[in-house]
Amino acid sequence: MPQSLTHAQAARRIPKLRQEIEHHEKKYYVDNDPQISDFEFDQLVRELQDLERRFPGFITPESPTQRVGEKPVEGFPTVSHRLPMLSLDNCYTVEELRDFEGRIRKLLPEETIEYVAELKIDGLSTSILYRGGKYVQALTRGDGLRGDDVSANIKTIHSLPLVIDDRRGIEVRGEVYLPFESFRQINREQENQGKSPFANPRNAASGSIRLLDSKEVGRRRLDAFIYYIYVDDREWPTQWEGLRKLKQEGFKTNPHSRHCRTLQEVIDYWEEWREKRDGLDYDVDGIVVKVNSAEQRATLGTTAKSPRWAISFKFPARQATTKILAIRVQVGRTGALTPVADLEPVRLSGTTITRSTLHNEDEVRRKDIRVGDWVLIERSGDVIPKVVAVMKERRTGKEKKFAFPDHCPACGSETFRPEGEVISRCTNPSCPARLRESLLHFASRRAMNIEGLGDSLVDQLLEKKLVRAIPDIYSLRYDDLVSLERMGPKSSENLLDEIEKSKSRDLAALAFALGIRHVGERLAQTLAGHFRTLDALAEASAEQLTEVEDIGPKVAESIVFFFRQPENFALIGKLKEAGLNFETRVSRRIAQPLAGKIFVLTGTLASLERDEAKEVIENLGGKVTSSVSPKTDYLVIGESPGSKLDKAHKLNIAILNEQEFLKLVGKG
Ligand code: IVH
Repeated sequence: MPQSLTHAQAARRIPKLRQEIEHHEKKYYVDNDPQISDFEFDQLVRELQDLERRFPGFITPESPTQRVGEKPVEGFPTVSHRLPMLSLDNCYTVEELRDFEGRIRKLLPEETIEYVAELKIDGLSTSILYRGGKYVQALTRGDGLRGDDVSANIKTIHSLPLVIDDRRGIEVRGEVYLPFESFRQINREQENQGKSPFANPRNAASGSIRLLDSKEVGRRRLDAFIYYIYVDDREWPTQWEGLRKLKQEGFKTNPHSRHCRTLQEVIDYWEEWREKRDGLDYDVDGIVVKVNSAEQRATLGTTAKSPRWAISFKFPARQATTKILAIRVQVGRTGALTPVADLEPVRLSGTTITRSTLHNEDEVRRKDIRVGDWVLIERSGDVIPKVVAVMKERRTGKEKKFAFPDHCPACGSETFRPEGEVISRCTNPSCPARLRESLLHFASRRAMNIEGLGDSLVDQLLEKKLVRAIPDIYSLRYDDLVSLERMGPKSSENLLDEIEKSKSRDLAALAFALGIRHVGERLAQTLAGHFRTLDALAEASAEQLTEVEDIGPKVAESIVFFFRQPENFALIGKLKEAGLNFETRVSRRIAQPLAGKIFVLTGTLASLERDEAKEVIENLGGKVTSSVSPKTDYLVIGESPGSKLDKAHKLNIAILNEQEFLKLVGKG
């Protein structure tokens, strides 16, 4: 951006930019309280990236631009921990917890004992080293004495500061975890790519931390709660104050930790979170109870493998045993065949479970799951329950092996399983089961949000041949609907209203609703933000697509493939005819990204007229004036710029060429 910055000016600007970016990262990732729009934030990062590209001598490993892309130390070598990373004893009942306190009282008679109760996050523990205020290394727990060097991957966690104020030797410890939302997204992608999904967020986090490509790790959006600090290898005097110190230094600590003055308060905390844990957006499997005072902890000491001053007090497992009544194969919208088990209904953390996904053919074979088997099922968070293990000792010999079909159970077409993938797919693009799922996906809340267009209605519409393809939704009439089962005048009218409303959904929703392989909700937003119209997206080449952040060659190819299919071409034509919105409207959040910015245009722009450029700037909240002054923020230069350019140079004003300008206004 500010093309004309000299080396000396860059030397002043770069640290300022970094500080600003660090501040906003903390606001966004740690405090959950963003102060600027994503757009403005991206502008700061881009400016820093540009400066670092032009003055590479200023790049430091702690720069916010260096979170991703760093190569992991080859093969993740094992490194000794400065202080061992112990594990914890578990207990499951209040009695056992009282025993824990009993043992402590014996060693500390007459003393008042206070505790800190924390949620036990189900992730992986890590130890992170800072020296001179800078991030230097992160290790996994390993066997407690030696861990793997995963510095490059841990660095991608945006809530983790790369620079802290305290310049002493600081070691922090915490739990790396995957929020459910990221977990679901990763599993959708795994399945899309024909790979086995991860069984739970913990496994997904642990798989991610060992990836060799830190760029890929960055995409997986790991996070970390930090719960422990050592300064020059010494503990903080109390755990509670230690947590405060961590917060001060910008670390993300769990907001639910509690200072408990009595064991009863610890028990209350456990009971409270046992009930509330389903409301969290990450997995917790219990609480960790820690003696608050470091002095007392030192007296208590440790046994061979765990400290006497802390214990994990587990919540009841979200597991149950039940019987498999049948195994069916469902056909998804992409044609993917998924085996599903019908279960004998069983209660599990508050809900009745009747079905469980078996993921894919290989999974059924690997676990040797048979109809009639007793199985252990597990639910983690709000995720669909899965079969963890088969209880083979309960087999009677009457169990039936499951034969995976080689034809689509819905339409009888052949199935196809690409080499190296675990998913078989129906090869018939107009398979009724695929159409059904496509319709449900199209109407779903996060897509076109047509409330009322659910399973039973879609089934009836298909059966009565009122809908044969997605666009038919938009030709439904009152008379078609009112005679259907469970539909009356009121619900028919409501549905027509909903359908009408869906026409004005944003492009991001439509791009997601189309069900393009590999295009999830977030990617659809990125695409909508970048291409701005469905036509532009449909015409984009694989090359143009890979220029967009987050899009690799595989995804690009899948998008190009989608729009090249004649039936999809027809689909889009019909949706346009039906009057659906095909454009990205500037969302409120980034409504005025250029608010207060003053632009001057000079020279001839190749892709748009002066007036158009002006309109674009004004739509984003900026202003266009005719002459360069110290108040000007940007000079946009086209072909043969005049004296304005010299003046801008003198005043050290940011100069944008046409491409940079288009990028800035989201059209590049
Ligand atoms: S304290 C000796 N605090 O639980 C101190 N651990 O079984 C041990 N964990 O390896 C760590 N949340 O991976 C502590 N708030 C928390 C925790 C926590 C999760 C994990 C950690 C540790 C394991 C102990």
